Amino acid sequence: MQKAIVAKVGDYGLRRCDRDDIPAVIQINVNTLPEHYSDYFYYEILAEFPETFLVAELDGEIVAYIMCRVEYGFSHLRRLGLARKGHIVSIAVTEKHRRKGIGTALVNACHEELLTKGASECYLEVRISNGEAIGLYERLGYKTTGQLESYYKDGEAAYLMAMQIAK
Ligand code: ACO
Ligand code: ZN
Repeated sequence: MQKAIVAKVGDYGLRRCDRDDIPAVIQINVNTLPEHYSDYFYYEILAEFPETFLVAELDGEIVAYIMCRVEYGFSHLRRLGLARKGHIVSIAVTEKHRRKGIGTALVNACHEELLTKGASECYLEVRISNGEAIGLYERLGYKTTGQLESYYKDGEAAYLMAMQIAK
């Protein structure tokens, strides 16, 4: 059966991740990011948040993914307020498919799904040295709301970045 495409970027199709796609997602993560997770973690996120776990595909090959949780807690944007918020746990695009708008499309598609889940904002952590990713998030409208020292195992700090998604 044809899988439902949620968005297109040129010849790339964006659609929900399937359990069968998880090995390819893990491979992209291993190839592109220093932060790895247990296989179980991916299947858990997919089972709990299938709407915001998306992949980009070209001719049957998975070239990118985004995985995002929905959380409820303190707002990153309003002082002392509580909010339902998306948390982008991980996003990656295979190197040769970068700079074509896939990362942007994945975040935008994820925001759309988050809105239907009642989230008003979205946040993430990113290495302070990761200029590509910070550029992507800033272009989308994310603002740096904090810095988490020694956030990563190797001691690097993270920026906490957040954006309002509800109109
Ligand atoms: N240098 C500067 N700015 C960049 C770069 C770069 N190399 N790549 C992207 N950007 C910025 C630009 O503003 C770009 O817009 P433009 O091309 O019109 O100038 C904008 O981001 C959007 O680019 P896209 O094509 O939509 O992004 P892409 O598909 O290339 O994906 C991503 C960006 C996901 C950061 C990719 O580079 C990647 O997979 N990197 C390795 C993994 C990674 O760092 N993931 C994020 C970790 S943080 C987290 O997961 C929460
Ligand atoms: Zn996080």
